[in-house]
Amino acid sequence: MAKEPVRVLVTGAAGQIGYALVPMIARGIMLGADQPVILHMLDIPPAAEALNGVKMELVDAAFPLLKGVVATTDVVEACTGVSVAVMVGGFPRKEGMERKDVMSKNVSIYKSQSSALEQHAAPNCKVLVVANPANTNALILKEFAPSIPAKNITCLTRLDHNRALGQISERLNVQVSDVKNVIIWGNHSSTQYPDVNHATVGGKPVRELVKDDEWLNGEFITTVQQRGAAIIKARKFSSALSAASAACDHIRDWVLGTPEGTWVSMGVYSDGSYNVPAGVIYSFPVTCKNGEWTIVQGLAIDEFSRKKLDLTGVELTEEKELAYSCLS
Ligand code: NAD
Ligand code: LMR
Repeated sequence: MAKEPVRVLVTGAAGQIGYALVPMIARGIMLGADQPVILHMLDIPPAAEALNGVKMELVDAAFPLLKGVVATTDVVEACTGVSVAVMVGGFPRKEGMERKDVMSKNVSIYKSQSSALEQHAAPNCKVLVVANPANTNALILKEFAPSIPAKNITCLTRLDHNRALGQISERLNVQVSDVKNVIIWGNHSSTQYPDVNHATVGGKPVRELVKDDEWLNGEFITTVQQRGAAIIKARKFSSALSAASAACDHIRDWVLGTPEGTWVSMGVYSDGSYNVPAGVIYSFPVTCKNGEWTIVQGLAIDEFSRKKLDLTGVELTEEKELAYSCLS
């Protein structure tokens, strides 16, 4: 029997990521090739005409899984009945800006949209925040939507995770699908810690295969940390197709589960695991099963990693304070 359609919200749907993301969702890349979807697309009034153009293109693409499209500038209509919410709406950073420079504009959007989600989304709606500063926007959404379970609110660090896989695969000249279990710890910012200490290729430790700790502890880390800025410099726009693809990976693994023996990185509400600050949205290694994520526990953290986990945790605590000062 055909499955019932799932309503998926994409905010900022007239923007760059939105334009790459909505066809992926309509093709089943996010929720599976047998899962019909109804797309809810939200943007602001100045983008209404462009949003309608995206809707026209979705109709023209005749996606078999796409059972309906709601294109609106009304946040309540956009949120009503959605089971998955991908929050892309906001303002991207430009060349020379750090992600926290877009803080004041974007956190206020997340505060204002939290109540519409809380009141009108389906119970147990899964929320993924993409817009920057992603961790802190997700935290603000969580704090102002107290009836949404904290475990349902996450942010995107899968793009950083995939970037780390890509760098290792290029360095070792192996298939990216053979690289497993890298970790992104902390903030989706230049303090994030891409960690390969538990990563493998074909079951062998990446450190043994690369045989160059100087590169792994230096250029590899900074390349992943700075990749967003490098894309902005090259494209004059921030990454879009890779962000959209990572958003699909994040939701797919959350809903359908991670493969046995594999973890992924997700920004989730921290319980203080690994002695990082509790009460911020921090990226951890997680496994997913039955629609729930669980932080992978018991990984050894060496002295080098400890400092990096702490540094990005301090930044998230500072961002939380800054976000509240922007909202007051
Ligand atoms: P964009 O400017 O092309 O699109 C953003 C869209 O959001 C625009 O259409 C804008 O009108 C809309 N918008 C603004 N305020 C809104 C509101 N209140 N409600 C609904 N929509 C609203 O930007 P983009 O390149 O698509 O990037 C979107 C966001 O994603 C940026 O904040 C960017 O920094 C972030 N980003 C995050 C990651 C990540 O890995 N977490 C990766 C890439 C980009
Ligand atoms: C990215 O990582 O590509 C995005 O967060 C965009 C940015 O501002 O870096």
